[in-house]
Amino acid sequence: MALRPQLDLVPAYHFTEQSCTIKLDQNESPFELPDHLQEALFERLKGVALNRYPELNAHSLRKHLAEYLNWSPDGMVISGGSNILIQALVVAAGLGQQVLTVKPSFSVYSLEANILGTDLVEIPLEEDFSLPKNQLIERLKRGKGVFFLANPAAPTANLFEKADIIELAEAAKDNWLMVIDEAYHQFSKTDYSFLIKDYPHIVCLRTFSKAFGLGGVRLGYALMADKVAEQVQKTVLPFSISGLQLAIGEFMLEHQDLIRQNLELILQERERLYQNLGQIKKIKAYPSQANFFLLRVPDAASLYKGMLEHSICIRRQDHLPLLEGCVRVSVGKPEENDAFLSALSKLLG
Ligand SMILES: Cc1ncc(COP(=O)(O)O)c(C=O)c1O
Repeated sequence: MALRPQLDLVPAYHFTEQSCTIKLDQNESPFELPDHLQEALFERLKGVALNRYPELNAHSLRKHLAEYLNWSPDGMVISGGSNILIQALVVAAGLGQQVLTVKPSFSVYSLEANILGTDLVEIPLEEDFSLPKNQLIERLKRGKGVFFLANPAAPTANLFEKADIIELAEAAKDNWLMVIDEAYHQFSKTDYSFLIKDYPHIVCLRTFSKAFGLGGVRLGYALMADKVAEQVQKTVLPFSISGLQLAIGEFMLEHQDLIRQNLELILQERERLYQNLGQIKKIKAYPSQANFFLLRVPDAASLYKGMLEHSICIRRQDHLPLLEGCVRVSVGKPEENDAFLSALSKLLG
């Protein structure tokens, strides 16, 4: 067989799909579009010519995003989900070099490094989930490639220290593309794109899948210096975002009020959940700057199974380093969070 033998050694992306009434296992937005907006969107989609190829490099959506973010449309690359951009950035800066990240972190960084046969270096986070800054600096000083850092972090839901990020940016500037993955940045109200002006080796990765509520549509983008975007764009396959995806992305950008309103509700619910979880002695809820919680529980496997019996999906994380006994739970709608809290008190007795 002509397949590359190393593929055999790469475990496939791991996710067990369960059918539950309450889905708290993928850090999604729990909010559907209201009916009147859904109708308006479907009307808009009728105008998409399905027989024609979409725009080559999503220039209309880039233009709208550029206005919304006050960013240069030429310093932006759009893709069908930020996962695709992770792959593109490994191709752009990591092939034949290194992929550096921390662990635990978002699994697609290491997945792509392994699939593309790139040397992968994962440095464990400190016990309190802060950055292993000195070890990272040491690696940055002697290597070359692409460095991924999710901030807010996943699955630990914390923010890293700003001073540490800037020190790492400084250490990375000669030989690394440094990717700050801001998939959850609306939930922490942080934005590191201001660094790109002084550090053009930084890329801020974003997604429409979380605060924008479009996980099912598949849209992501990255902000970077114009000259970096010109090169990175080449690594995203031509015509790989459909006209339907582009039209939906533009439609959502026109409905910022709804997005802001949904965001505020998630932030309120996050606070309410944290207060309630703090009352339960048998678990530890880590503070969250994202739209999900990491919980340390007495037995992750039995809690996962027990929640399924209540038709609630959560995600086990207990296979990951530092995360023994941990599960991850998205912040849902108020009634979903109530159902989760009530199932939790029943299951933990
Ligand atoms: C940190 C992080 N980055 C990127 C992604 C992928 O997002 P997308 O849906 O845009 O591929 C996720 C999804 O959960 C994530 O947690």
